[in-house]
Amino acid sequence: MGFPSVRMRRLRGTSSVRRLVGTTSVSPDDLIMPLLVTTERDTEIPMEQIPGAKVLSGAPLAGEARRLASLGIPAVLLFGMPLAEAKDSSGSAAFDDDGPAQKAVRTIKDAVPDMLVITDLCLCEFTNHGHCGLLKSGKIDNDLTLDCIQLTALSQARAGADIVAPSGMMDGSVAAIRRALDSNGFEDTLVMPYSAKFASGFYGPFKAATDSSPGESLHSTHQLDTGSFHQAMKEIELDIEEGADVVIVKPALPSLDIIHAARREFAIPIAAYQVSGFYDMICRRYEGDQLHRLMMEILTCIKRAGADIIITYYAGEAAKGSIRR
Ligand code: PBG
Ligand code: ZN
Repeated sequence: MGFPSVRMRRLRGTSSVRRLVGTTSVSPDDLIMPLLVTTERDTEIPMEQIPGAKVLSGAPLAGEARRLASLGIPAVLLFGMPLAEAKDSSGSAAFDDDGPAQKAVRTIKDAVPDMLVITDLCLCEFTNHGHCGLLKSGKIDNDLTLDCIQLTALSQARAGADIVAPSGMMDGSVAAIRRALDSNGFEDTLVMPYSAKFASGFYGPFKAATDSSPGESLHSTHQLDTGSFHQAMKEIELDIEEGADVVIVKPALPSLDIIHAARREFAIPIAAYQVSGFYDMICRRYEGDQLHRLMMEILTCIKRAGADIIITYYAGEAAKGSIRR
């Protein structure tokens, strides 16, 4: 049966029918807001490289957590930004109990106990060379790095993090973290790895903002090659076997195929990261209602591909105004 008895436009005639039959929408419940945090006192400095994002600590950080909670955002993802003098070759500021992320966890939990606090877990913001792991003979040593990742996970959990998010793509990191957490009484702390993280040029604004770009990048020795589909699926499978609770795919927009395939293959929540490069590009080109419509369109597409959760700098704005269909 076809036209004229079938008329698809009947499903689109009014806003109500469009809303009723639609399959995908973006709710504040799905969103995670990334926050950059520092050890300095009561800080609120706009990030030139990521429009609308700020480096926060103390009272302004507590205020931001309250604002996001009032918009219905359930979770924040913290990136610690240590002082330049705190950086060393092993990134030990990452596992300092008074490091930026640890302090920020306590600040947010004091202000908004229900807010889920997720801590990014990589060493690149904390090493003086900017690499994601410990160097040995000019290479990132996987197993040495795992020791520091375990120490960092424990320190973050002690501070009160609900979820730790290893982003360094080291082999075995989820298992190592799970083991460390479980043997120290943190069985209830979730592990949300960046399982399929591609070596992408779209992290540029973030790298510049956090001053974590190494002179000679070794990212392609651990992050996925853009042309590698099967490895992405294998990484997700391995992380699930090692005990991941949620997996992250990143960058979101160029990885809709991976999100879609993972959705069909695995019964696990999938988070997708709308990274700084894409966010920044759209923010700089558009404004007002048009900016909002474009952002919501993109977030909807990421969910339609199969993501349950989106990590985005636009979380607060997205939660404010839902789309008019
Ligand atoms: C690693 C990390 C990066 C981003 C999030 N976590 C940078 C990288 O892997 O090179 C990028 C985030 C963004 O671009 O928005 N700690
Ligand atoms: Zn890193």
